[in-house]
Amino acid sequence: MEFRIKTGEIAQLKTPCILIGIFEGRKLAGPSVTLDLATGGRLSELLKKGDMDGRLGGTLMLYDLPGLASERVLVVGCGKHKEFGRDNYRKALVGAVATLQQTHAGAALCTLPELGPDGLDLYAAVRDLVTTAEDKTYRYNLTKKDDKKAPKTPLKRLEVWLSDKSDQRSAEQAIKHGTAIAAGMALSKELGNLPGNICTPTYLAEKAVELGERYDRLETEILEEADMEELKMGALLSVSRGSRQPAKLIVMHYRGGEADAKPNVLVGKGLTFDTGGISIKPAADMDEMKYDMCGGAGVFGTILAACELGLPINLVGVVPSSENMPDGDANKPGDIVTSMSGQTIEILNTDAEGRLILCDALTYVERFNPELVIDLATLTGACVIALGKHASGLFTTDDHLAEEIIAAGQAAADRAWRMPLWDDYQQQLDTNFADMANVGGREAGAVTAACFLARYTKAYRWAHLDIAGTAWLSGKEKGATGRPVALLTQFLLQRS
Ligand code: BES
Ligand code: MN
Ligand code: ZN
Repeated sequence: MEFRIKTGEIAQLKTPCILIGIFEGRKLAGPSVTLDLATGGRLSELLKKGDMDGRLGGTLMLYDLPGLASERVLVVGCGKHKEFGRDNYRKALVGAVATLQQTHAGAALCTLPELGPDGLDLYAAVRDLVTTAEDKTYRYNLTKKDDKKAPKTPLKRLEVWLSDKSDQRSAEQAIKHGTAIAAGMALSKELGNLPGNICTPTYLAEKAVELGERYDRLETEILEEADMEELKMGALLSVSRGSRQPAKLIVMHYRGGEADAKPNVLVGKGLTFDTGGISIKPAADMDEMKYDMCGGAGVFGTILAACELGLPINLVGVVPSSENMPDGDANKPGDIVTSMSGQTIEILNTDAEGRLILCDALTYVERFNPELVIDLATLTGACVIALGKHASGLFTTDDHLAEEIIAAGQAAADRAWRMPLWDDYQQQLDTNFADMANVGGREAGAVTAACFLARYTKAYRWAHLDIAGTAWLSGKEKGATGRPVALLTQFLLQRS
């Protein structure tokens, strides 16, 4: 979608459709007052008929209003005026975009950012408009011959109306940032939604190579299983051994900073299908385990956003990618493997495979002398139980880093919530037969998973995001969300 800024008399702007917001009780405010005046009060007269009260997310399309150059006016319900904060603003936008997609307009001029949602400056309001519109118009269709629900006239252009020309610069910045974040999220969703028989480790590696060819500042390197053998990545290789698809360790170097500036490093779980292995999962909903590579997809998306923004930092994205399959050669409960760090692991449950592929990747990234490392992974069902689909779980012992990440999630409307990572939990990983077990029992499953990773991340500043609840939605709206690309891109913007 294309976004542009418009200033000037609303009434005289030629567009297929103007979006204006009203509040409950048919209350006009800001641009809708101006528009009503231009129509000689016709707008408020029509509203008196009672078809549209201002209910949040509701819409009413009006045609041929006198005194306007626009063909249509879409009245968008913004709920109670007193409650008009960011959440309601975004819900109003969702309603507006959904209605627009069902019309023949194809383009529109949006005045909603000028309503001044509580607690949002104009930059944030415009950026939210861009990301929400892109998010709600995304459609997966790579493996569909025809998409019967696809809009006949998809929304191609949104213009943002500003009352004050001096806001233009920050609005332009918002469009630039929002567009890059949305592009990253779209890539992440697309990779996530692809089925496991297409999106294999090899496929992901090819996509990384393509990305590297697309951007000058990006260089991709793919490590094969033979390379992993040489590095003694016994944990990662043990997961991959049960699969016919070869594992890949995907490394993407984005160089936007000084040559000697320490890189921020992102490590994403790229498990392209998780059957559980010999500790096999139940059949119901197992298809959703194609989403077990969404951490990796989030790394791809964030790297793409960084490239689009030309961020003045160095960034390394690492995606250990494998399948987890039951097989004659697969890991068995009780097997003991040696990780690249030299620490041994007793695999008590082959379904706790994410931490096995991540731990070797986390040891590997020490060589980049990182400024900090953030890993993102659909790591535990326990995190879904703890936080649901609303917040990603954040684990770190670094209070300062925690604050930065939480603030980024807040700013990007892609929130994380901090969970404990106290040493008290470490003993749950004790075993008589190895340095650690790969599972810590039923209690605090998301915490003990993070505790496991903590044993491999002592050489640098580190935080872990468990995105098992946030990376995709289930049920009727099943699909990848593109999270936490917005959080991570915001985090990098804050550090630039
Ligand atoms: N990929 C899963 C985690 C998961 C499960 C994410 C359900 C989203 C929904 C991970 O590999 C896994 O299977 N974890 C196990 C760990 C357990 C065996 C300690 C889990 O959460 O059940
Ligand atoms: Mn698993
Ligand atoms: Zn998994």
